[in-house]
Amino acid sequence: MSIKKISKVQPELFEFNDDNLEKAKKEIMKYPKQKKASAVLALLYLVQNQNDNWIPLAAIKYVASMLGMPYMKVYEVVTFYSMFNLSPVGKYFVQVCTTTPCMIRGAKKLTEVCKRNISEHQNKLSNNKLCSWTEVECLGACVNAPMMQINQDYFEDLDENTTEEIVQKLLKDEFTTPGSAKKRESNAPEKGKTTLLEVKNA
Ligand code: FES
Repeated sequence: MSIKKISKVQPELFEFNDDNLEKAKKEIMKYPKQKKASAVLALLYLVQNQNDNWIPLAAIKYVASMLGMPYMKVYEVVTFYSMFNLSPVGKYFVQVCTTTPCMIRGAKKLTEVCKRNISEHQNKLSNNKLCSWTEVECLGACVNAPMMQINQDYFEDLDENTTEEIVQKLLKDEFTTPGSAKKRESNAPEKGKTTLLEVKNA
């Protein structure tokens, strides 16, 4: 289970750059005026993209005032969803799913690889500052368990060796092709499709 760590080093101020301010306004306009708080997830996502994949406390205040929400309400949203980070993460942020289907299929081996190669503890940067890792709950790819997410991409059907290979590359600032390590197409059986053979892309 991941524990959210709040960075001790915090910028005093946060503001959207022009591009993101424009995008934020567009998101807010999707909702009736009295319901603009509904744009909170979209705005937090923009914050994280702008701020090297983590959300400083000043940005929570900024979003709260933009949406007319109490600070604590936005803070609750940030701490509830595992995709929001409250402290700096590596250029390569590895999220290992450790929910039951992945755990049964060997997720513990994946976390051991991360501990050995990236850092002993979750949410701590590797020595070369390129990577960090954390455990997360189900990422919705259980049929291709065990799996992990690196930045925006899914890596599936992993084992200790394939994970080690991927992580070693990340530490050298190299990104591997995402997808199934067993080259499965989507979640078809390993030896290829057995049903819907007549349907293209099924
Ligand atoms: S349990 Fe790991 S993706 Fe669902």
